[in-house]
Amino acid sequence: MNRIMIAPSILSCNFLILEKEIRDAEEAGADLFHIDVMDGHFVPNITIGPMFVEAIRKITSKPLDCHLMISNPSDFVKDFINAGADIITIHIEADTHIFRSVDVIKAAGIKAGVTLNPSTPLCSLENIIETIDLLLIMTVNPGFGGQSYITSMDKKIRDARQMIDSTGRHIDLEVDGGIKASNVKRVADAGADIVVMGTEFFHSGDYRKKVAEIMDILK
Ligand code: DX5
Ligand code: ZN
Repeated sequence: MNRIMIAPSILSCNFLILEKEIRDAEEAGADLFHIDVMDGHFVPNITIGPMFVEAIRKITSKPLDCHLMISNPSDFVKDFINAGADIITIHIEADTHIFRSVDVIKAAGIKAGVTLNPSTPLCSLENIIETIDLLLIMTVNPGFGGQSYITSMDKKIRDARQMIDSTGRHIDLEVDGGIKASNVKRVADAGADIVVMGTEFFHSGDYRKKVAEIMDILK
């Protein structure tokens, strides 16, 4: 198996020194950057949009993983493509015509991801799983960094792994919410390919040490 990839969520970084944060995280071994987009409607918080993605695109060649926690994501997918996203992930609960959005993302030559709130069952993916490039399992209710991992999501991650494997296709399994050194092993053992880390990474004070700690736990 390939080693697990770490996606720091910039939601928890110091925005006053965004460029330094991105460069330091990259040097420390970040594999991709997770960008949490919130609209104050789909989730009870507002964060950043395509302009931010465009700015970050200029200072890193690492993949930009845009997690759209917004209503009607299809209205904004093209803006994120044009801003330089490498992965665009939309919530199945937010898009009435998700095949259409996935088609637009894939036609742009980038990865199309789909994600589920913790309470949304995996069976809602039945008709779309064969079409997507990435499945993101939320292990907190989306909206804020720094929440606690919902432990009952272990089984959902395992089931998602099985669902992906049964397709015979390469689909990345990403897990997001409350992941720390203390629980990363259970997430990896359940079958994750990519772990998102916001608070644990950016509030650690030493990014290099944090990556080494995680890799040591997972070796
Ligand atoms: C939650 C976001 C997460 C969040 C993760 O709505 O989707 O990506 O930034 O932050 P931590 O790792 O602090 O839970
Ligand atoms: Zn996220």
